[in-house]
Amino acid sequence: MRLPFDHFNLIARYYDRLIGRPEYDALSELLEAGPGQIVLDVGGGTGRNGIGLLAVGARAIVCDRSPEMLRQARAKGLPAVLADVGRLPFAAASVGRVLVVDAFHHFVDPTPEAAQASAVSELLRVLQPAGRLVVEEPDIRRAGVKLIALMERLLLMGSRFLAPDRLMAAFEAAGAATVTVNDDGFSAQMVFTRGPAFSKRKLAPP
Ligand SMILES: C[S@@+](CC[C@H](N)C(=O)[O-])C[C@H]1O[C@@H](n2cnc3c(N)ncnc32)[C@H](O)[C@@H]1O
Repeated sequence: MRLPFDHFNLIARYYDRLIGRPEYDALSELLEAGPGQIVLDVGGGTGRNGIGLLAVGARAIVCDRSPEMLRQARAKGLPAVLADVGRLPFAAASVGRVLVVDAFHHFVDPTPEAAQASAVSELLRVLQPAGRLVVEEPDIRRAGVKLIALMERLLLMGSRFLAPDRLMAAFEAAGAATVTVNDDGFSAQMVFTRGPAFSKRKLAPP
């Protein structure tokens, strides 16, 4: 059962205080984000991550489906785009850096299976061939994350967590290559590019 409202619209004003500050340096390094680089932060919410990328000269565009979360991002001066991950309003191969932090398990409408499959293909569609996609997800194999998953279940959020190996398999099956995987003791950070399989699938003559 799901509730007929968006949890993130409700908590947007308090979100940054509840969640805290991310590790900007680690994210910038994984993204290889530098001066002038545009980073599309999908499910980027209040721009909590995007704002930190300004320190290395990168420019974040926050993309999210919650108008209230985006209101917070705009208040930080970040460009914000209202869109669902399943239909990103960006051209194919147009973005050099794509970021998804703590959001993949929330891609669940109309069903988790359908939403996460279209998220994988949309994220790879917009990524430039030599670009980098960084996906950070709480690692559901850890006790603390299992507790959060239970809490989100009780709150009827409909979340669906995939363990890192399943997540990587989903991206690889869609043609991505995994560049590296980090583990900070709570979340896994996975870096993908569009792999050779993707190029073959997309560029092979008919
Ligand atoms: C836990 S928050 C994470 C926000 C941000 N990435 C961060 O780390 O602070 C999850 C975000 O995913 C967004 N979201 C959920 N489903 C989405 C979808 N189908 N398309 C785009 N954004 C979505 C929510 O609105 C929310 O802002």
